[in-house]
Amino acid sequence: MARFIDVLRWWASVNDQAQVVRRVPWKEIYEFTGARGLVRKYRVELRNELKAAKEFSTRTKDPSRSTIKCVGQIGQVEASMLYILLRETQPKAVLEIGALCGSSTRWMLSALRRNKKGTLFTYDLHPFALDFIGEQSNWKFFVKDVLQEAVHDSNFVNRFDVLFIDALHTNKFADSYTRVLLANSKKSHSVFVHDIFSPFQIPEFKACQIDLRRQNVHKEIACIHDVAAKYADDRGGRDILYSPQQMAGEGLALSSWLARTGRSQRMISFSPYANLDFAFRILAIFEVHHLGDFLTGQRQVNNPSIFFQMTKYA
Ligand SMILES: C[S@@+](CC[C@H](N)C(=O)[O-])C[C@H]1O[C@@H](n2cnc3c(N)ncnc32)[C@H](O)[C@@H]1O
Repeated sequence: MARFIDVLRWWASVNDQAQVVRRVPWKEIYEFTGARGLVRKYRVELRNELKAAKEFSTRTKDPSRSTIKCVGQIGQVEASMLYILLRETQPKAVLEIGALCGSSTRWMLSALRRNKKGTLFTYDLHPFALDFIGEQSNWKFFVKDVLQEAVHDSNFVNRFDVLFIDALHTNKFADSYTRVLLANSKKSHSVFVHDIFSPFQIPEFKACQIDLRRQNVHKEIACIHDVAAKYADDRGGRDILYSPQQMAGEGLALSSWLARTGRSQRMISFSPYANLDFAFRILAIFEVHHLGDFLTGQRQVNNPSIFFQMTKYA
């Protein structure tokens, strides 16, 4: 019960902040969010990190350096929020599942370096991130299937304080990691799972993707609704998401596990496709602090991850 009130209070405070962002002029927004916002607290660090992330991304796309296709990099807002989470919670050990070229790795290593404590343990099937990032004193990299590690050691997950998951986005993978990782969690892990709320991973919705920019989100969502309605009409009402052919089912499997077990609290997403008003208000806070010009439409606003905290078994 106490936790419930806690969540409600937190949600009310976010909404208060959001209401103010919607109503008042920019200067007042700055004053308001400036008083206690975490984005304001870390704005200078975030500005540096966003610059470093851009440089890193350019490097990973340089064909003279590598032929790897560095896809699926985390979005600017969710990466910044992940950075804030690590700075605020000062974890000793962070588990990263899925680094590819190291975009998320770079953000997390940087936060831990600033903390002057904590180690990042990365698992990936390929060593590409090592090439782009280089060896670091606060980083241990394993070229291994994390599920193989976890399946033989039920306490594996409890060696970490924060879990970052961005590997395969299938129902099957989520089914496996909820069983061998999340189900074994005995502490209040903070968890970040990427690409949960990306409608465009669902093949039927892919044609609705315009450019993931703010000015087109409404059009993209309207198109998704039309496609889903047509799909159901053509198939006697069968839901597009639950069809057996559905490949992008990680979000479904994970949400279902969390709902059935009650193991999560404080779930949040900065995805405009899942949380439109809220996401736009958060973008406004970023803009106020000169952390991205989302209004003029040059930056993508897709941040398809969720954050939640595992509840401990009583
Ligand atoms: C979407 S990419 C990660 C992108 C990265 N987080 C970023 O921000 O750029 C997915 C990565 O997960 C890795 N992966 C897939 N299955 C895995 C597993 N069972 N264990 C560890 N890594 C896995 C893949 O090798 C791939 O590099």
